[in-house]
Amino acid sequence: MLNSAPMAKINTHYEKLKAGYLFPEIARRVREFSSLRPDAKIIRLGIGDVVLPLPKSTREAMKKAVDEMAEASTFRGYGPEQGYDFLREAIALHDFGARGVKIHADEIFISDGSKCDSGNIQEIFDGASRIAVTDPVYPVYVDTNVMAGRSGEVDSSGRYAGIVYMPSTAENGFSPALPQEKVDLIYLCSPNNPTGTVMTHEELKRWVDYARAQDAVIFFDAAYHAFINNPELPHSIYEVEGAREVAVEFRSFSKNAGFTGIRCAFTVVPKELTALNRSGGRSSIHALWNRRHCTKFNGVSYPVQRAAEAVYSAEGQREVAEMIRYYMENARIIREGLAALGLKVYGGVDAPYVWVKTPQGLGSWEFFDLLLKEAHVVGTPGAGFGPSGEGYFRLSSFGFRENIEEALHRVKSRLSGAALR
Ligand code: MLT
Repeated sequence: MLNSAPMAKINTHYEKLKAGYLFPEIARRVREFSSLRPDAKIIRLGIGDVVLPLPKSTREAMKKAVDEMAEASTFRGYGPEQGYDFLREAIALHDFGARGVKIHADEIFISDGSKCDSGNIQEIFDGASRIAVTDPVYPVYVDTNVMAGRSGEVDSSGRYAGIVYMPSTAENGFSPALPQEKVDLIYLCSPNNPTGTVMTHEELKRWVDYARAQDAVIFFDAAYHAFINNPELPHSIYEVEGAREVAVEFRSFSKNAGFTGIRCAFTVVPKELTALNRSGGRSSIHALWNRRHCTKFNGVSYPVQRAAEAVYSAEGQREVAEMIRYYMENARIIREGLAALGLKVYGGVDAPYVWVKTPQGLGSWEFFDLLLKEAHVVGTPGAGFGPSGEGYFRLSSFGFRENIEEALHRVKSRLSGAALR
């Protein structure tokens, strides 16, 4: 008999995570409210989940692919882990080639989501890498580094000791300063979730130059690029010279083509991107990401990849543009409606999120409660995206028009004028 039997122990880094992941925590609070007020008709503008049905072109392509799977002669089993060439080539051509950016099809890795990819990318870098995030930020970037043991402990303001936070607030025009200390991995998101602001070419160049000078790597999340209206704004970090040596880019079909429930995204890892290895030489990030992808992932299903390919057909492009127009009109209604009530609003012009300064110095969660209780409208508290998000609130334009209009009507009629200024 063993006296000191080994015991299964958990990864202690998980104990450093804040209570729950943001969106399930919001859902929990809304369920709690609903159970007390079952009569309340709640309008959800919290999580950025699409509501419009899948474009016809993508449905048709998916159905055709399913039918192919029904015949022995056209049936397909495991596909290439990195994705089928037909989709990788369509992406290289339409998303990059058309903007004068050279990305090769084999630098594109098809996956089931940008959330997973932006969360997983850190694991091929050293455990001691110093990470920098803009603050507020999509919580996945921070939480996955906490899980990996790079964060240290959290303080009472919600900051982890080992993470470099770059405040991004109205005071600096949501354009954070470069870090003062040496960092290795930098997370950038443009159009930004949650602030709805977009980096200009000059701003992006500043980051690329910085990363090149510091031998740092940028993780560039462009999941919302399709919502950019202003033709002057860059869609891809590779529009900046020199970015191929320092950046990984994440893209998704979730928000532009309504694939949140279908799952398809991709990550671009240029062949020139390298980082120091333990022998003091340099290793290819492309090769390592490929190694990881093939080990942990078996590819996106064939019908889904055919559906994603259809997004690039003439009909698909027309349908997607129409959906984006619909959501961006929602964004305009939210933005202008709240501004008319005296609130300070940001974003929502080249991004589907409207970032609102909470009135009366209310905390983000206080404003969340006020809006839920009085107007039965759900948004996302800015503090959930990081300490500098405190005092802000995010509203998503991914809703049906009548709900957006009703939400604004309720805010106007149920929250007194004084409560909003
Ligand atoms: C959000 O609301 O921030 C997004 O829907 C989250 C996500 O895409 O994972």
